[in-house]
Formats: sequence, structure tokens, C-alpha cells
Amino acid sequence: MTDALLAGKHVVLAVTGSIAAYKAIGLLRLLTQRGATVHVVMTESAKQFVAPLTFEVLSGSPVTDDLFSGHHDMKHLSLTEHADLLLVAPCTANTLAKIALGLADDVLGTMALTLQCPLMICPAMDGEMWTHATVQAHAKILQSRGVTIVEPEKGELASGQWGQGRLATEDTILTTVQTVLQPRKDWQGERVLISAGPTQEPIDPVRFLSNGSSGKMGYAIAEAAAARGAEVVLVSGPTQLACPVGVTRVPVVTADEMLQALSARFEWATTLVMAAAVGDFRAKESYSHKVKKEQWNGEALQLERTPDILLALSAQRTNQRMIGFAAETDELVEHGQSKLHNKQLDMLVANQVGGEHSAFGNDSNEVIVLTPNTAPSSIPRMPKQQLADVLLDRIKILSTSPQSQRSASQPIL
Ligand SMILES: Cc1cc2nc3c(=O)[nH]c(=O)nc-3n(C[C@H](O)[C@H](O)[C@H](O)COP(=O)(O)O)c2cc1C
Repeated sequence: MTDALLAGKHVVLAVTGSIAAYKAIGLLRLLTQRGATVHVVMTESAKQFVAPLTFEVLSGSPVTDDLFSGHHDMKHLSLTEHADLLLVAPCTANTLAKIALGLADDVLGTMALTLQCPLMICPAMDGEMWTHATVQAHAKILQSRGVTIVEPEKGELASGQWGQGRLATEDTILTTVQTVLQPRKDWQGERVLISAGPTQEPIDPVRFLSNGSSGKMGYAIAEAAAARGAEVVLVSGPTQLACPVGVTRVPVVTADEMLQALSARFEWATTLVMAAAVGDFRAKESYSHKVKKEQWNGEALQLERTPDILLALSAQRTNQRMIGFAAETDELVEHGQSKLHNKQLDMLVANQVGGEHSAFGNDSNEVIVLTPNTAPSSIPRMPKQQLADVLLDRIKILSTSPQSQRSASQPIL
């Protein structure tokens, strides 16, 4: 009974040291019967409960349980490289903590830090452990990073006590695996206009004013929105990045060109995501020929402000969601709040630039999300592709009627 969603999929099933470890045998069978290829990873404690041989015979491939044996094939990296899902079932309180905190002292912990595919965790433990504040905090950290947690069920536990801690049923786990593997099309019918990358303001034909934006965040959002069914137009400053599949790219160079390109398409859009790092200043006069160094007698370069794109588009707004980004070196929340309100945005994503963890150029990012009616919310560091999906989840639930949102946040006079 193969299953269209599971057939041909590569699942890494990680088994940890819970009394429910034997239930992973049933899960393995269910997944392979439905056409998935399953590779099993075991923690040292898991091997106290079930012999690796059982999983090896049923999966048809050796179990990975040691970070160091056969280290030349780098299993902790290569195993999940082509995986569609890492499923940790059952997951102990210990492994939950390790993954939440990024501890990498075994194969599973190391793998979780290099993961490119979705991660699904099915905890199983004593009821008092599951409700413990520490375990709950770890589960929340993981959820906030887009990890799917399948909550344990209530019932009789191995201890003989009743409580919430039993591994979710095979049916629940299988249905959740199918949901996670299902390509989401929740942005179908939406038209998303995204700006990305830096702008360049010429001084002369070979010199320009710009910034260190790589465009990776905006491109990741464009890619994710298109994958989730949206029509996407990406207005991009100069970058080295390839245009994501299914996205229409409009290349621009200066802030003026970016404003024109966005303005021409703004009415079409249901959502604007302004992820570009638009230069704030440009040379008051630019030269049509290359200025020779001998000609430069040390006078200061006169600068002027570039157009405020968000403000200009706000004036054209009908019912688009408007999301801005703020790249700040300090006081992220304060600067972000003032931009959110001044430009009447529905959401502002504040990120840190400069320093070791600068959002510019990095493959990962951590941000603070600000909206008019809710408290600031931090999204921890994660790959920009994953962050793009988390941001789209949050943007999707914003109202498309800014008027109603604004009136809700304004006092009734
Ligand atoms: C009989 C027995 C059953 C256990 N069952 C569980 C369990 O269901 N859930 C859990 O979180 N820990 C359970 N533990 C504790 C874990 O095995 C222990 O925390 C171990 O360090 C987990 O290692 P791992 O996360 O690397 O697999 C159990 C321990 C024993 C001795």
C-alpha cells in the first residue's frame, strides 16, 4: 500500500532511549510499506532498549549509531543531505534538550545542527517529565524554529501512572509525517512583490555607494512564497544569486529604479515584502566619465537622500499587506518600532547588521518581529530558507485590510 506522499521519500528515523523505543519498529514498517526509504539512527541509550539488528533487518541498511566509527564518510552530514525528513520517534527529554540547545556530542545532535530538511519530534516520557517547565521550554524553542512537535498522548504510562507522556499513536505520527511532507500551497492566489539586495548609487561609471546586503533573505522569501503557491515578482538590486524557480525577477540598480519597479507593480500585489537594503544616500552629482585620481583635489562628496520607497508606496496603498525590514546596528526594537509606525506597516522584521553575526551576507539570521498590536517576538537564529517559511506563516495571518487594523490600534475619538 504505497502512499503518494511517502513513495520515494527518504526518511531518517532517529530512535532514542525511551521505553517506547520498540514502537519505532512499527513506525519503520509503516513508513517502508508506504514506499519510503528509511535509514535508522540510534542513540547509545536507545540500544539498551532495542538491538540495532532489528532495525537493520527491517530497514535493509546499517544503523548509524556512532559519530566516530567510519568517520571518513561523515554520516552525520551526508545522511540528511538528501533526506526529506528527520523523524525523532520516540524522543527522550534528554534528546529534546540537546536538540533545542544545539548540543552535538553524538550523531543525532550533530545531524540536527546541519539539517536542511524538516525536523519532526515525537516525545515520549513520564508525564511529570513532559509537563516539567524545562522540557516545555525546550519544546517551545523548537516549535518557534519551525520544528513539528507531535505531543505525547494521555494514558497509562510505563510507570503504571496516568499522565501525558505516551508516544503519539502510529496513526497520528503518520498523518503528521504526511502533512509535513505535503508541499504547502497556502499562498496560492496571493501576489507577492518582494524587493531584495542592495542598491548602488553611482559616483561615476565605475564607482558607486552601496552596502553589504547579499539579497539572500529576500530571495529566500521569494523562493518560499513561490513554492507555497504565490505569484512572485522579485525586484532585485545587484546580487550574485540565481533567480528562484517560479519567480519573475526585475533587476534594478539604484533606489530610484527600485521605486519605479515596485510602484509599477504595487497595485497588482496583495503583499509587499521590502527586504532590500535600499541605500539612504546618493551623490548629489554623479560624473558621466571616470574621475581620474589626479583630478580629485580632496573636496568632499556631496550627498543627498534617496527616495523613501516605503513611504511613497504607503501613499499608493489600497489593501496590500506591507512588511518592512530594518537593518540596525543597535536598539533594534526602538528603531524598528518607529519605522513600523512612521511607515504604517503591518509588520516590521528587525535584524542586526555589522559585527560577527551580521544579517548581511550570512546564510542564517535571527530577527525580532514587530507588529502594531502585539509585543515584539524574537525568532532565533536559523537558516534563511527556514526563516523565510516562518515569516510567511506570520505574514499569512495578518489581515489584508490595513484600514481595519489601523482603526483597531487608533483611539476612538
Ligand atoms: C527503563 C527506562 C526507561 C526510560 N524511558 C524514558 C522515556 O520514556 N523518556 C525519556 O525521556 N527518558 C527515558 N529514560 C531515561 C533515558 O534513557 C535517559 O535520559 C538517557 O540519557 C536518554 O538518552 P538519549 O536521549 O541519548 O537516548 C528511561 C530510562 C530507563 C532506565
